Amino acid sequence: MASTILKSRSDHLPGRVTPPPDLGFGSRKVHPAAYNGGMQPHDLPSTCPTLPFLKWAGGKQRLLPRYKLYLPPSASIRRYFEPFTGSAAVYFYWQPKPALLSDRSAHLMDLYRTVQADVEGVIRALEPHRNEADYYYAIRAQNPADLTAVARAARLIYLNKTCYNGLYRENSKGAFNVPFGRYKNPKICDKERLRAAAHALQGVKLCAADFADILAKAGKGDFVYLDPPYAPLSATSSFTSYNRYGFDNGDQCRLAQTVHDLSTRGCKVMLSNSSAPLIYELYDGRGYHLIPIPARRNINSKADRRGPITELLILNYELPTTGSPR
Ligand SMILES: C[S@@+](CC[C@H](N)C(=O)[O-])C[C@H]1O[C@@H](n2cnc3c(N)ncnc32)[C@H](O)[C@@H]1O
Repeated sequence: MASTILKSRSDHLPGRVTPPPDLGFGSRKVHPAAYNGGMQPHDLPSTCPTLPFLKWAGGKQRLLPRYKLYLPPSASIRRYFEPFTGSAAVYFYWQPKPALLSDRSAHLMDLYRTVQADVEGVIRALEPHRNEADYYYAIRAQNPADLTAVARAARLIYLNKTCYNGLYRENSKGAFNVPFGRYKNPKICDKERLRAAAHALQGVKLCAADFADILAKAGKGDFVYLDPPYAPLSATSSFTSYNRYGFDNGDQCRLAQTVHDLSTRGCKVMLSNSSAPLIYELYDGRGYHLIPIPARRNINSKADRRGPITELLILNYELPTTGSPR
């Protein structure tokens, strides 16, 4: 199927707009530090130093040079929602405020809350961790509920940096179940990244929830970036086991309905997904821009199944006219 922009549409689909409830977002005025000395984060050069401190399957770091062409000016959006946060690559790059970051993984959002509140405590708890197999399995066997918040946060970062493929995966009971990674010298404690992330998270609202619960609260003028687990290109090709719930075709349909509702309510939506037939079925011909994005598939146990593929970026708003970096 042709994968250029398929159709344009007016800025938003028509619909009745209800003012969204107050979610307790921080105000733009209370977090001057996050604005990098008076510059709007939107105006930061492409060497913006805030990078994800987690490795994440499907993380968008490498696609940011393409994505930034499609981000609207941050001053034009009312609030920013990112309900599939993962390693938060897009948020850390852009840093629009006020912002709400959420993910269904309660462990992940607990980690962000602790980094936000006490990054120096997390660094202190992380420094003693060692890249050794026996030690790794002992830490993995700990029950997070028995640990303090900083020890829990340090444990999760440690496991993420030293586990196989840097893959965050939970079993059906919600426990982290990835084997040891055997990296030579992983950077377990990246103080600079952690401090920059903590800085960027000041004033951000953090929630653990299903995307639909969070997005019920988005309204006119809000910007929503969606990066769900991808629809599989083939029966064996996709990774969706981030958490115990998984993400199946029914969830993709539920998400598409949510995107249509957000459009009707006057939200700007940017969605990443695979170029699977299901995604064309759900979004093609409904007035969205479908933009092909060259990417690499690298979450596959078989090296010969990693390689170049085309993903989609789906927008419900007019493309920025300048094409200049955001
Ligand atoms: C592709 S990853 C996001 C990657 C992220 N954009 C980044 O750059 O790292 C998808 C995320 O969706 C989360 N997730 C899965 N099902 C969800 C649901 N029903 N509601 C909210 N988040 C969900 C997973 O925990 C995972 O972190």
